[in-house]
Amino acid sequence: MASVTFLPTQALLHAALLIIAISFLIASPPAATAARGAAKPPRPPATTLQFYMHDRPGDTAVRVAPATPLNFSGDPSGGVAAMFGSVYVMDNPLTAAPGANSTLLGRAQGIYAMASREDEFGLLMVLTYSFVRGPFNGSSFSVVGRNPIQQPVREMPIVGGTGAFRLARGYCMARTQAADGMDAVVAYNATIFHLHH
Ligand SMILES: *[C@@H]1O[C@H](CO)[C@@H](O)[C@H](O)[C@H]1NC(C)=O
Ligand SMILES: *[C@@H]1O[C@H](CO)[C@@H](O)[C@H](O)[C@H]1NC(C)=O
Ligand SMILES: *[C@@H]1O[C@H](CO)[C@@H](O)[C@H](O)[C@H]1NC(C)=O
Ligand SMILES: *[C@@H]1O[C@H](CO)[C@@H](O)[C@H](O)[C@H]1NC(C)=O
Repeated sequence: MASVTFLPTQALLHAALLIIAISFLIASPPAATAARGAAKPPRPPATTLQFYMHDRPGDTAVRVAPATPLNFSGDPSGGVAAMFGSVYVMDNPLTAAPGANSTLLGRAQGIYAMASREDEFGLLMVLTYSFVRGPFNGSSFSVVGRNPIQQPVREMPIVGGTGAFRLARGYCMARTQAADGMDAVVAYNATIFHLHH
């Protein structure tokens, strides 16, 4: 078990939130395998990242479709049906702490679409999370998955990456930390298995 600080010098105030725990999970070979002398290779290391995403529709996220205005009148689903089909392009800052002005770690860029027609908002997320500081400066991972934003915690798959995150596989847990109208601060925990570490 080892841990390194994402931003050892630039963000002392936020150091506690910047801890990247890199766990070396060494699989213990079963007794029978060990007896045959064929130890299994160790499992790949997991990197865990914690950060906060700032989503501000109309500012960091823009609706690109449909071109016609949304019509919420008479929508019994509380907007779910009215917004179905809406597509947004976003470029959201990722920070070390919940405050909008805390240390910038990177950006989440891509597309989300209102893909649920009833019951609850269900967004299809197609995003790249790229980082500008610390050991993952210049690296990115990609998320494709469903985001039911009204649920307290949402899980989304990490399907690939670049740089240090090459061949990434993993998952994100996302929780809305604060909301103000359409604006939201979303806390992320990402667990990533990748080639380099
Ligand atoms: C919005 O929807 C309501 C109910 O379907 C309809 O009566 C109204 O004409 C629509 N308004 C616009 C601007 O399309
Ligand atoms: C963040 O910084 C901007 C620009 O300096 C400032 O206008 C804003 O009030 C700050 N926000 C917070 C929450 O401190
Ligand atoms: C991140 O990497 C870029 C390109 O190599 C470099 O210019 C920049 O200084 C780095 N940022 C930090 C905070 O290390
Ligand atoms: C992320 O992990 C921290 C520390 O384990 C935990 O307190 C927090 O609730 C987690 N957040 C999410 C969104 O899973």
